[in-house]
Amino acid sequence: MANTPIDTRGTWNTKLGFILAAAGSAVGLGNIWGFPTQVADNGGAAFILIYLLCCVAIGFPVMIAELTIGRKTKKNPVGAFKALSNGNSFVPLIGYWGVLCGVMILSFYLVISGWTLGYVFEELFHYFGYSSIASIMGDLENGPKNTVFTLIFMVMTVAIITGGVSKGIERATKMLMPVLIAILLILIGYVFTLDGAMEGFWVYVYPDFSTISGSLILSAMGQAFFSLSLGMGALITYGSYLNRKQNLVESAGYVTLFDIGIAVIAGLLVIPAMYVAQAGGIEIFNPETQKLYSSTTLVFDVLPEMFHNVGAFLGLFLGVTFFVLLGLAALTSSISLLEVPVSYVIDEHGIERKKAAMLVGGLVSILAIIISFNLSLIDIFVFIFNEIGLPLGGLMLCLFLGYFWKSENAVIEIESGYPGFGTSVTSTLWVLFIKYVCPLLIGIVFVTTFMTVAQSLMEMFGF
Ligand code: PFF
Repeated sequence: MANTPIDTRGTWNTKLGFILAAAGSAVGLGNIWGFPTQVADNGGAAFILIYLLCCVAIGFPVMIAELTIGRKTKKNPVGAFKALSNGNSFVPLIGYWGVLCGVMILSFYLVISGWTLGYVFEELFHYFGYSSIASIMGDLENGPKNTVFTLIFMVMTVAIITGGVSKGIERATKMLMPVLIAILLILIGYVFTLDGAMEGFWVYVYPDFSTISGSLILSAMGQAFFSLSLGMGALITYGSYLNRKQNLVESAGYVTLFDIGIAVIAGLLVIPAMYVAQAGGIEIFNPETQKLYSSTTLVFDVLPEMFHNVGAFLGLFLGVTFFVLLGLAALTSSISLLEVPVSYVIDEHGIERKKAAMLVGGLVSILAIIISFNLSLIDIFVFIFNEIGLPLGGLMLCLFLGYFWKSENAVIEIESGYPGFGTSVTSTLWVLFIKYVCPLLIGIVFVTTFMTVAQSLMEMFGF
């Protein structure tokens, strides 16, 4: 039977398969490494509330928009915006921005993912008494070691992507997601039996509203975009492999809830674990600033030390399990980060999947190796491509959908798979959010941030 172009691009096999793949993209380092430490550092439940608001009021509508554009055009982000651009040459730039963010985010994401793998070995070598090799495995600043683990991670990601949409991405995430949830629950169950866990629990659930500020809201918004994998076209790409029967609103709802749920549950593990470490005599606050150490220090220094303190086989079990969990979560996300530029190269340059995956994988590896030796680049990339880049992508997407392509056309696309959507309250609300609420909220946060940055720059230069 001759293949149609859509067949050759690949499609998800089942509705659940797609939801798990999209949830796998969403659940990653952002949930387990980023979210809990941001909560602990930013007023506990007060941050959670702002974060939830960002997810529901901005993330959820934008996710529906990305899936809709993807399924309508059946293309990668650049091709999708081109297809709907009516010849306008600015519109495809939104897609190019997404591909660029994907490449840049993946380059540092791989280095952090490599650390998780390094720590699996650190725990093992520590347990068997090879402490000097253990300390190399746990040395975050060791460039050659970082390079090796980063490349191992890249090879695994490329191998899965090469398998294609249903046989590669869908099959891998379907297997990995249940394992991830099981590991998370086992670890929480155990950590709560240790001293200090309850103190961490209260820090987590007690809201301190005095910490809310412009920069906190920007962090919460950046975190929501990052965690839900929005603003760079990952879900345009995943949406392009969907069939017309899928209810996009329902699917976006499941993925958003799943991602929020895992972040909140991960907080129940990481924050109590930090306080268990403190109860064991390990410092978690910087004595000079009285602020919590950075998320990197907490997850990659404090927690391993806590696992070592627990000692014996149990410490080994907890440590290995935790870093395997983090690694699996990172893998299902890096797949989607790589799929964005790979689908662009396949669709727009006619290169076959395997070659495209190796080509893009190779290019991103070069960047990742540079970062492996220059870790200060991570903070710079996070600020430009994650905190600013993703919400900016989201803002352009909302304006494009609401005012250029026109929301009526998007509503028609959603209708297939959700009959009656056009006349429902949900549709009215969604259009209202995409056209007015999301752009306004993102815009306000941007203006406040730029004013704060400008002010601190002026102070720095003595104005
Ligand atoms: N959502 C992932 C995380 O929380 O770690 C990161 C991510 C994946 C961001 C895919 C953006 C993306 F397109």
